Amino acid sequence: MQIIHIAIDGPAAAGKGSVALGLSKALGIPCLDTGAIYRAIALFAYRNGIDNFVGKLGEANISAKIINNSTHVFIGKEDVTKSIRENEVSQTASKVATMKPVRDYATKMSKDLAKGQSLIAEGRDICSVVLDKAKYKFYLTADNETRARRRHAELTEKGKQIPYEQVLEEIIERDTRDKTKGGLVQVPDAVVVDSTKMTVDQVIEHMLKHVHGK
Ligand code: C5P
Repeated sequence: MQIIHIAIDGPAAAGKGSVALGLSKALGIPCLDTGAIYRAIALFAYRNGIDNFVGKLGEANISAKIINNSTHVFIGKEDVTKSIRENEVSQTASKVATMKPVRDYATKMSKDLAKGQSLIAEGRDICSVVLDKAKYKFYLTADNETRARRRHAELTEKGKQIPYEQVLEEIIERDTRDKTKGGLVQVPDAVVVDSTKMTVDQVIEHMLKHVHGK
């Protein structure tokens, strides 16, 4: 059977997760949220002290598993999939993601999950590092305000009362760090999709045309 890898990168709250899930359903290929791995490492860092967790990473026993097409992450036997969605974890994840040992650790875990199977992976360095040989590469983006509005609506729906201005500020701060010190790269061979004026379904349809047409 032919192995198909689809790589999706882009800044925070661009809709990568929803789009990856839609593609996954349409193509029958599992999807991996690599951000969850960085978030699990961030939670481990938070618990062990941001200044001295790196030396403990080797024994941290952090793992990721795709269960019913959703990425579950574990610290030892503890399933931390829910805890990593707290808003504060986003910023910590972006900070630890600037550290080389953290990137190496997360990259190895992601590459291992892609070995021997078709996979749709989304994150920041999928096209450039994790699935650098992928046949299909996408860079999904949207303007800052649109992304902040979407993330704000998501948080509000979860009962988190965070002002829109703060969400916008945090997204810009995270993207800047991800681009300058972290892994966010727009590779030249990626198809750029600006979803500012598109619905999730329109983005999925657009990407599927590329996949079927190539
Ligand atoms: O995608 P998500 O917002 O959950 O990712 C959290 C953080 O993890 C990002 O802001 C980024 O710093 C980091 N990340 C990364 N490389 C990836 C996925 C996520 O550096 N492939």
